[in-house]
Amino acid sequence: MRLDRKDLIALEDLSRAEIELILDTSLSFREISQREVKKVPILRGKTVVNLFFEPSTRTRASFELAEKRLSADSLSVSASHSSVEKGESLIDTVRNIHAMRIDFLVIRHSSSGAARCLADRLDSSIVNAGDGFHEHPTQGLLDLFTIKERLGRIGGLRVLIVGDILHSRVARSDIWGLTKLGAEVAVCGPPTLIPPGLDELGVAAHHNLDEALVGADAVIVLRLQKERHTENFLPSLREYSALFGLTAERLRRTKREIIVLHPGPMNRGVEIAQEVADGPNSVILDQVTNGVAVRMAVIYLLAGGESSGAAHAH
Ligand code: CP
Repeated sequence: MRLDRKDLIALEDLSRAEIELILDTSLSFREISQREVKKVPILRGKTVVNLFFEPSTRTRASFELAEKRLSADSLSVSASHSSVEKGESLIDTVRNIHAMRIDFLVIRHSSSGAARCLADRLDSSIVNAGDGFHEHPTQGLLDLFTIKERLGRIGGLRVLIVGDILHSRVARSDIWGLTKLGAEVAVCGPPTLIPPGLDELGVAAHHNLDEALVGADAVIVLRLQKERHTENFLPSLREYSALFGLTAERLRRTKREIIVLHPGPMNRGVEIAQEVADGPNSVILDQVTNGVAVRMAVIYLLAGGESSGAAHAH
């Protein structure tokens, strides 16, 4: 089966079958990352540019490794070292990069809609690595992959997303992906950090973490996106942490084996306690490991690869 798409902009756009195709293909690529020689020649001759207008550790390194493991030629450009600093517009920067005859552009940008805007104007494939508050589709996919890997399924699970939902592109991608695959999704946070309209997506909103954790199979903890806070959304960090911080005691009280995810970067002691981040319920580093395989699968499928071809890659 093939993914009949030029771009990956949002999980909202994908069908359940397309998401399942990416997850199944990721499984084959995860096996490649466990080999001694972690490289296959399937994208030899293809060129990928990673253009990051916002800071990133995980996503950028993960895309770079995914591209190298597929044998693509890749290079990364960060905004602070680009001609954007001299006043060049996004579209001019990208048109110039595109003129070098690239095949893929991976973009992170602070404006929601930046990736879609480029996808509509260019014939190279655009992969959204996070656009403003909108979506972070590869993070959503790696979260789905990690939950399925640990719990064996997505359909029928209860997944709780805790924290700054309002400013989180990860929450939006997770909600689309999880609900399309049949999970029951709930969110929890202070009323000021929960956007309106979630009930239309079938997502329940809670403001009491202990109550929200009842019956959960997985909890996705989010960082407070202070860089996106344009006003005072919280009385204090101390109060936020007391009410919404995930502690080992809170997990113990549920009497359930809830897996804990976090997209990173974490603020230990704020949204997540040290002992939870490093504890037995945490799958946070598994998410990072799986991210490389998921990004290999996305680029491979957008290049026209077949799911069966990934399984036979040497
Ligand atoms: N999860 C995530 O997007 O992390 P980075 O900001 O480090 O890429």
